[in-house]
Amino acid sequence: MAKQNIFDNETFFENYQKLREREVNANNLFEIPERLKMLPDVKGLKILDLGCGSGEECVEYIKMGAKAVVGVDISEKMLEVAKEKNSDPAITYLCMPMEDIGSIEGEFDLAVSSLALHYIEDFKGVVKNVGRLLKKGGEFIFSQEHPMVTCHSGTAGSRWTRDENGNKIHVNISNYGKEGERETSWFVDNVKIYHRMFSTVINDLAEGGFAVERLAEPLPSDELLEKYPEYYDLFHKPDFLLVKARKV
Ligand SMILES: C[S@@+](CC[C@H](N)C(=O)[O-])C[C@H]1O[C@@H](n2cnc3c(N)ncnc32)[C@H](O)[C@@H]1O
Repeated sequence: MAKQNIFDNETFFENYQKLREREVNANNLFEIPERLKMLPDVKGLKILDLGCGSGEECVEYIKMGAKAVVGVDISEKMLEVAKEKNSDPAITYLCMPMEDIGSIEGEFDLAVSSLALHYIEDFKGVVKNVGRLLKKGGEFIFSQEHPMVTCHSGTAGSRWTRDENGNKIHVNISNYGKEGERETSWFVDNVKIYHRMFSTVINDLAEGGFAVERLAEPLPSDELLEKYPEYYDLFHKPDFLLVKARKV
């Protein structure tokens, strides 16, 4: 099955880098703080990072005391940045689709993945392989675009219903129950992501031998809303889903 590698598209890559360089972005405000809250003490742990991108997290885990990190990503361009800016003797970067991690040897204490799993068609297969690579009791902590967002992507119609003054009244949800590929435009056309219902995410984890311990759908605080009122949108639909699951 051919896997998409959109981050190696020049236009996509440049625009994504610019987005992440902005100080105020949803990753920095919501995804990263919530994921850090879910992390155990990583001191001495061997960590697998799926869809590690340019390696910011990998190097952070080493700074936090992790023994070793293996970062896996399908994009050569993202890994070039990782090797240039975020290298460390304790980090190994592997350029490969995460669907193929079954070929990795060794055992890990913790698996993490940040905003990469919605690019994966075979989530169940990845979960199974993560289960094989993790020690018993090891945690799998990941974030993905929220199912309320992935369902709408690429489908016809506006994301919002607005009043006569253009104010957002409510979010439009469509085809939530139709799982699978969505083709959307983000910096470039034909970006593929995969929609899964919330229940599928949880059931795939359970069938893969994981117990879900915590879920999060980050929301803005009052303080943050005062500075960035546009993030009130998250009360209508969360953008991110974060999951902490343990191999039982
Ligand atoms: C939104 S970026 C997130 C990068 C990093 N985890 C972070 O939070 O900064 C998604 C990453 O997933 C990677 N990715 C997409 N599909 C993949 C696949 N099948 N296997 C491995 N990596 C993949 C992309 O190349 C990209 O680096």
